[in-house]
Amino acid sequence: MNRVLVLNGPNLGRLGTREPDVYGSFTLEDVASRLREQGGHVEIDVRQSDSEPELMSWLFEAIDTESAVILNPAAFTHYSYALRDAVAQVTKSGLVLIEVHISNPHAREQFRHTSVISAVATGVIAGFGIDSYSLALAQILRDR
Ligand code: DQA
Repeated sequence: MNRVLVLNGPNLGRLGTREPDVYGSFTLEDVASRLREQGGHVEIDVRQSDSEPELMSWLFEAIDTESAVILNPAAFTHYSYALRDAVAQVTKSGLVLIEVHISNPHAREQFRHTSVISAVATGVIAGFGIDSYSLALAQILRDR
């Protein structure tokens, strides 16, 4: 594994201005530069899409290129069975996929307490702000 795809779902392109009281004031570009620095020689590819099919196509790309995945499924976490089925294909092919959340969904509204993704992810990290991504990458780098 020489590549990590860091995939971000709907509304995460708005980080920095989106509900800073919940998500902080860092941007996705801040996430990307921090992870690139942390990753050293490992290629870190940070992407964001509001579209479910596009996120699914990137998960299939992860399988085809044998990349590890850090996935913040955003609101899709709570109801997208299509994304869940794509995630299951990633982990069943032997690749690591870590579900991350900036906030702690369990400390928020009831509808956020359910993740349809977690049961098929390798692991879950939530509630540590931008550090959720760094912790996920640290685990992937440790596993290599
Ligand atoms: C989120 C939590 C989700 O409930 C929410 O829909 C998001 C972001 C997080 O990173 O805390 O968009 O995944």
